[in-house]
Amino acid sequence: MIWSLRPALPEDAAAMAAVHSAASTNGWSEADFAAWLARAEAFACVAAGEAGLSAFGLALSAGDDAELLMIATFPSVQRRGAARDVLSTLDAEAQRRGLGRWVLEAARDNLAALALYRSEGFVEIAVRPGYYRPTGPAASGPVDALVLARAVGVSGGHGRT
Ligand SMILES: CC(C)(COP(=O)(O)OP(=O)(O)OC[C@H]1O[C@@H](n2cnc3c(N)ncnc32)[C@H](O)[C@@H]1OP(=O)(O)O)[C@@H](O)C(=O)NCCC(=O)NCCS
Repeated sequence: MIWSLRPALPEDAAAMAAVHSAASTNGWSEADFAAWLARAEAFACVAAGEAGLSAFGLALSAGDDAELLMIATFPSVQRRGAARDVLSTLDAEAQRRGLGRWVLEAARDNLAALALYRSEGFVEIAVRPGYYRPTGPAASGPVDALVLARAVGVSGGHGRT
């Protein structure tokens, strides 16, 4: 492992925004992350590498559910298992909190995220047609959101050890 996993701290908000902006076309701001991290029901994990944050995940307790709000890996370290490690760490925290089910939304065209979630045992439970409205010059039309779920504490069995 080329990173260490730990809970996110309030001072990680800027680095989380930097990872998200590098990994995604609709990056959340430092203020967005700071606001989420300040919420009592939030729990988040960072994979900290030698050069800064490699990846992070941000989740919320929502009743009996654990809701994954965001997960992102810095582009130059993608496909090395960082997101899988972050998910696994968040899953342990969800178990500690007594939560029963993971839920998340992903755009139908986000093939990397869907591959990650499916490899971790998530299955589709609903579709929100046209939920995402991409912006920018390269944007096409609205994109469906797939709602995926999985029991807490049960991975897809494809994880690295
Ligand atoms: C989705 C994302 C977080 C994956 O991060 P990552 O650290 O590269 O993922 P991992 O290395 O842990 O990959 C775990 C598994 O997910 C799947 N996967 C991840 N990226 C993939 C890709 N680009 N294509 C196909 N499968 C992929 C593979 O099954 C992979 O296992 P393998 O490498 O042994 O084949 C990353 O691509 C990212 O930051 N995307 C932009 C932000 C985003 O869209 N987040 C999700 C919002 S819903």
